[in-house]
Amino acid sequence: MSGRTALVLGGTGMLKGCADELLARGWHVVLPSRRPERALGSAARAALRGRGHVPQGGGGPERHEGGGGSERRVAVAADWARPAELADRVREVVDRPADLLVAWVHASYRDAVLRAVEPLLAPGAPVVEVHDSGAIRPVHGLPGPALEGHPTQRVVLGFARQAGRTRWLTHEEAAAGVLEAVHRALDGRPPSVHEVGEVDSRVMRQ
Ligand SMILES: NC(=O)c1ccc[n+]([C@@H]2O[C@H](COP(=O)([O-])OP(=O)(O)OC[C@H]3O[C@@H](n4cnc5c(N)ncnc54)[C@H](OP(=O)(O)O)[C@@H]3O)[C@@H](O)[C@H]2O)c1
Repeated sequence: MSGRTALVLGGTGMLKGCADELLARGWHVVLPSRRPERALGSAARAALRGRGHVPQGGGGPERHEGGGGSERRVAVAADWARPAELADRVREVVDRPADLLVAWVHASYRDAVLRAVEPLLAPGAPVVEVHDSGAIRPVHGLPGPALEGHPTQRVVLGFARQAGRTRWLTHEEAAAGVLEAVHRALDGRPPSVHEVGEVDSRVMRQ
């Protein structure tokens, strides 16, 4: 593996566009999730099915490369509920420290998972933590960065207002907001908090 490497946790759902953009910019992107086949493009998924290698989430160590005609997307089967195992699975497919961590991890798992993957990061590598405003209790406010030694951009996903009603952000809106924070992180900007859409001010207490 040569070139820059990003570890993207929770990057196969709503934030797939964010992983795709990093790939388009020449990054290697490692994507741990329970269903790694979702990380791949439809052509790569079909090829996997044809070879009878459709991965089973939570199974043994698996590495699935490709999608989008490149070998730079590596999807591994792993579960946040087993952070040490997740880190081991990532360690098996990378040969150098990661230059960027993007983490869209549910609050109850976040600290344990981020601490487990911290040794896989280059010293001082930037982190982008993505938070769901709906999961932040106003009484607690926005959690501080999980990894002290890494400059962290925090993103809080709120809601969009349309025709007088509120709705969740679309995947494109969420991924675009997170990408802005990724660019700030890669530009070496100071740690900050980004609101995407409308966020209840009570959850922004720090
Ligand atoms: N404020 C907002 O606008 C907002 C906030 C939250 C959600 N939503 C909406 O709700 C929908 C669902 O949200 P979602 O939270 O399910 O996000 P999502 O981004 O669609 O999926 C969650 C991501 O985390 C991975 N993941 C989940 N649990 C995991 C585990 N235990 N171990 C490893 N990886 C895990 C998933 O892959 P695997 O499932 O394969 O593991 C996937 O990559 C989204 O599509 C979005 O539209 C909107």
